[in-house]
Amino acid sequence: MTPILLLGGTTEASALAKTLAGAAIDAVFSYAGRTAKPVSQPLPTRVGGFGGVEGLAEYLKTESITHVVDATHPFAAQMSTNAVHACEAAGVPLCAFERPAWQAGEGDQWVHADSIEGAVNALPEAPARVFLAIGKQNLAQFAAKPQHHYLLRLVDAPKADLPLPRTTVEIARGPFDVAGDTALMQRHGITHVVAKNAGGIGAAAKLTAARELSLPVIMIGRPEVPERPVLGSVAEVMAWLSHTAD
Ligand SMILES: NC(=O)c1ccc[n+]([C@@H]2O[C@H](COP(=O)([O-])OP(=O)(O)OC[C@H]3O[C@@H](n4cnc5c(N)ncnc54)[C@H](OP(=O)(O)O)[C@@H]3O)[C@@H](O)[C@H]2O)c1
Repeated sequence: MTPILLLGGTTEASALAKTLAGAAIDAVFSYAGRTAKPVSQPLPTRVGGFGGVEGLAEYLKTESITHVVDATHPFAAQMSTNAVHACEAAGVPLCAFERPAWQAGEGDQWVHADSIEGAVNALPEAPARVFLAIGKQNLAQFAAKPQHHYLLRLVDAPKADLPLPRTTVEIARGPFDVAGDTALMQRHGITHVVAKNAGGIGAAAKLTAARELSLPVIMIGRPEVPERPVLGSVAEVMAWLSHTAD
């Protein structure tokens, strides 16, 4: 039997891995290797980049991969773009497993930004206390507004100096809940939240907490990825796998 390649790094990828393993379907789980201790998976796991489009296309051929499921984070645009081109080149069917984007509801005070730079620009000029809930990448761009105090929530303690002068680092791994996020924001006197529109439940608590505390949220929209079939549930992916196997 030849395996399915599951590109991971999300709760959705872990849920699919569990179902694939439970159904005894041959699959390989792939992590980028960004966190020191990634969540262990019930599937054979590989870690690290493939070496761009060519490297991935080569991997698909060498490992005789039959299908690729891209369940990376909606902001992992480079990996998703590479997957589209490599699958095209290798003639391997690809689908994305992606959660829908969050939508603002009643009581939300969202300011939409179309990029990280847009989010930096949307922050005020006067010193503020910002919950920068965007992970460890892209922090350097916020150095353009060094007057703010930034609360960072990271999976691993930073190994090098942070590129921002005023920070507090909270080490935690999701999923998070509303009570915990409300308490965190109150404890740190947060005035603004910056978030990537990741969608899903695991990271949504901060948005509910911000609504309840009447705080503005600068919401960064998702990056563009080339067109591919996008599925929204484990069941849909399983149906796609059996359909395309025919
Ligand atoms: N971006 C976020 O906000 C975010 C948030 C939570 C989790 N994540 C997860 O963290 C990982 C990295 O995200 P990113 O934004 O740095 O990605 P990215 O910018 O789209 O990818 C950069 C490079 O990292 C490698 N890579 C990314 N995902 C990979 C995977 N699942 N397996 C093997 N190689 C992978 C690829 O290297 P090669 O070109 O060498 O193949 C890719 O070109 C992803 O798996 C993503 O699901 C990202």
